[in-house]
Amino acid sequence: MSSINVENVRKDYGGVKALHSVSLDIKDGEFVSLLGPSGCGKSTLLYCVAGLEEISGGRVLFNGNDVADRGARERNIALVFQDYALYPHMSVRENIAFPLRRQKLDSALVTKQVNWAAELLGLTGLLDRSPSDLSGGQRQRVAVGRAIVRNPAALLMDEPLSNLDAGLRVHMRTEIKRLARELGLTVLFVTHDQEEAMVMSDRIAVLSNGHLQQFDDPMTVYRNPINRFVAEFIGSPKMNILPAPNGNAKIIIGARPHDMNLVKDGKANTDDFAVTGTLAMVEPAGHVYFLDVEVGGTLVKATTADIGWSAGRR
Ligand SMILES: Nc1ncnc2c1ncn2[C@@H]1O[C@H](COP(=O)(O)OP(=O)(O)O)[C@@H](O)[C@H]1O
Ligand SMILES: [Mg+2]
Repeated sequence: MSSINVENVRKDYGGVKALHSVSLDIKDGEFVSLLGPSGCGKSTLLYCVAGLEEISGGRVLFNGNDVADRGARERNIALVFQDYALYPHMSVRENIAFPLRRQKLDSALVTKQVNWAAELLGLTGLLDRSPSDLSGGQRQRVAVGRAIVRNPAALLMDEPLSNLDAGLRVHMRTEIKRLARELGLTVLFVTHDQEEAMVMSDRIAVLSNGHLQQFDDPMTVYRNPINRFVAEFIGSPKMNILPAPNGNAKIIIGARPHDMNLVKDGKANTDDFAVTGTLAMVEPAGHVYFLDVEVGGTLVKATTADIGWSAGRR
């Protein structure tokens, strides 16, 4: 595997600045997510690292070596996309073997590597099937198998779970994380799903409009967001943004729904920061209820495990 250094990388598409001087130091064996809303530059950065896009400025280094003169093939990067594009006319076995066949490897070695990848991914019994006879999750696993079979320098994934249904996504994210750990893979994982980034990553790089906002481990990004954008992007339901109690327009207060304590009929501890409002909506979410409380014309989200006292007031 390989460490990856992104140094002041810029990317312009004509007049569009897709990346403004982004720097990341990704350690050998580290799992890093690129997180942000649609259009913020995640895929562009991934392609710049892969060598699929030329950078407009800065440097990309693998294991400390500038890879500017290496094309996508020479970088030995494995890519997995959202639409995993398996070859429909080939069996699972041949799909996984494809990158090795292209390298004209000895067929005994190909068999060995394919069996190894299939075993790791629970595909051993499916090797003779056609991709059309697989479920979405199995196809995704074949795509991952095809990616890792040749021991790449790094695994780059662009929203690989977006096409799967909710249950399978949760299952596959655990599988991919386990695999990355087991193999010590260096992974760059693109997602717009903050929870996916949180649970999978060693560190998360949060992007907005082509600017890197923060690059930290998940709990640091959650607990100590560097700015309002990160604070509001990470966490679900979203952080509430409230005006300061003393009316100071320069200060805003961010309060996560889970950190809001509910008190009945305005009997708050006077030492606490408190807002008073009217319950507008109750959303049952299983382990908790989400509450929309109307405070001076804006909705504030709170959670509670117990709505016994308010159940009659929806
Ligand atoms: N080939 C291209 N030509 C022109 N603009 C592009 C091209 N690819 C991406 N962009 C622009 O660059 C920005 C970042 O895009 P992208 O990296 O695809 O975002 P993300 O993957 O975060 O959704 C967007 O404004 C997008 O429209
Ligand atoms: Mg994208």
